Amino acid sequence: MNFQLTEEQLAVRDAAREFAQTELLPGVIERDNNQEFPAEQVKKMGELGFLGMMVDPKYGGGGMDTISYVLAIEEISKVDASCSVIMSVNNSLVCWGIENFGNEEQKQKYLPKLATGQEIGAFCLSEPEAGSDATSQRTTAEDKGDHYLLNGTKNWITNGRTAGIYLVMAQTDAEKRHKGINALIVEKDQEGFVVGKKEDKLGIRGSDTHSLMFTDVKVPKANRIGDDGEGFNFAMKTLNGGRIGIASQALGIASGAYELAMKYSKERKAFGKPISQHQAIQFKIADMATQIDAARLLCFQAAALKDAKKDYTKEAAMAKVYASQVAMDVTVEAVQVHGGYGFVKEYHVERLMRDAKITQIYEGTSEIQKIVISREVLR
Ligand code: CAA
Repeated sequence: MNFQLTEEQLAVRDAAREFAQTELLPGVIERDNNQEFPAEQVKKMGELGFLGMMVDPKYGGGGMDTISYVLAIEEISKVDASCSVIMSVNNSLVCWGIENFGNEEQKQKYLPKLATGQEIGAFCLSEPEAGSDATSQRTTAEDKGDHYLLNGTKNWITNGRTAGIYLVMAQTDAEKRHKGINALIVEKDQEGFVVGKKEDKLGIRGSDTHSLMFTDVKVPKANRIGDDGEGFNFAMKTLNGGRIGIASQALGIASGAYELAMKYSKERKAFGKPISQHQAIQFKIADMATQIDAARLLCFQAAALKDAKKDYTKEAAMAKVYASQVAMDVTVEAVQVHGGYGFVKEYHVERLMRDAKITQIYEGTSEIQKIVISREVLR
């Protein structure tokens, strides 16, 4: 695998860096404090093409490769992980899911809006009693001939309130277990669909995470993605790509904290010299740099396999489990390098440390990633 970045990829990275520094950095602390959804910023992300990066240009997307996507998510996550989760769910779960498993009519109807940010998407798999154990879906989609009747509750849904287009997994034939699950496209204004409470979270506080309630929601059969009973496989395959997005988010959280720690260590003096000249700090910086490079290479590996249309199930899970651990380790150390300053909001690293934790939980916990990896290697 050749990880020499092309000029196009470098240009995407630079554009994302510029956008993050000029548009996301101002106000990021306040948005986190106030749990404020970054509406203006997301609108600009749509205008700049960050919400449908890999979507075919014929559906309004950027037609970019997954490496470019990794680079952009890393840059945006360095500054605002709330924006990057909105971006990741929209790109790798909703757009990619519809583009790769939807029919032509669905692609034409939904992708142009999603890729430009006119509408935001949400991916609805988790339930109050089905998080890691995703085959145990309690939400039902009763087959009524030309439509499904959707009933149930989804939990912890990113973009829960702001989304306009929801991909909802639901059980149609419980006897068939995961082979009886369907994936349905649900639009926000459908009768019987209620957005529930907003979660008050430890991190990524700018993103809106909600429960969703469906009561006798009539979803036309034309809104089913793929064949009858294909919904679980759709969700799993789509999540493989989603895991590259979250791995890149974790990478960005880590590299954002690392850059802040480096800068601070060169400025802050103790015992007569910048703390970067003390070995205690140098060891931390060396560990951070090594872990971040290893995480980035794992992200690139998974992305390159995806671009080459090869199986990347294991590599995506490896990238996610490793990068999310790196995000935790590096952010904790970045706070330590900052000493007391690291514990206050103004210096950003405490937020990055709080944001890091979710990368070990959503789109499959670290334990789930290890199940996925071990199944693949033991196969
Ligand atoms: N890729 C492709 N297919 C997969 C797969 C993967 N990673 N994992 C499982 N499958 C397929 C299996 O091949 C099997 O298919 P067949 O029956 O056709 O052979 C089917 O799915 C069922 O798999 P298992 O028998 O292995 O099912 P299981 O119950 O033992 O385990 C699991 C499945 C891997 C634990 C799965 O439930 C899982 O990944 N759970 C985590 C769910 C998750 O990631 N949730 C995140 C929610 S979305 C989110 O967080 C978005 C957000 O808002 C940020």
